[in-house]
Amino acid sequence: MQKITIINGPNLNLLGVREPSVYGDMKFDDFLAQLRKEFQDVEITYFQSNIEGELIDKLHEMGFESDGIILNAAGYTHTSVSILDAIQAISSDVIEVHISNVHAREEFRHKSLISAGCKGSVCGLGLDGYRLALLHLTQRHLRSSLFS
Ligand code: DQA
Repeated sequence: MQKITIINGPNLNLLGVREPSVYGDMKFDDFLAQLRKEFQDVEITYFQSNIEGELIDKLHEMGFESDGIILNAAGYTHTSVSILDAIQAISSDVIEVHISNVHAREEFRHKSLISAGCKGSVCGLGLDGYRLALLHLTQRHLRSSLFS
């Protein structure tokens, strides 16, 4: 069974309540239940923290055993050299996800310090971004097992 880890950073525990015009009105737990139904053959581990060091600890913990990590580092995207370092230290591929289109928002959100360490990024597609990242990570493994 493929193992994928989803890690959400600060304030994303308030999804559904927080600025619904920007982030939508769905709680992440409800979305996660949908994803788990859609990807029944994938073991999806979920972690959220508002604390930078806890996000780094989770990247270390899961980053050598997950088949891929989907990371929304939220505000730390724009500030955290240490999260970039953690991404570069682990062996699992990391896909960066943002619910909102950060490039259409304030200028300080245009720069991601973590993108350089990520396989790719999805932004502005709402919660679908997580689904697309999951699809990519799982299909890629399907493809590589077909050709190996
Ligand atoms: C976010 C975008 C960030 O700029 C912001 O700080 C967040 C959420 C997004 O998912 O759109 O907290 O990562």
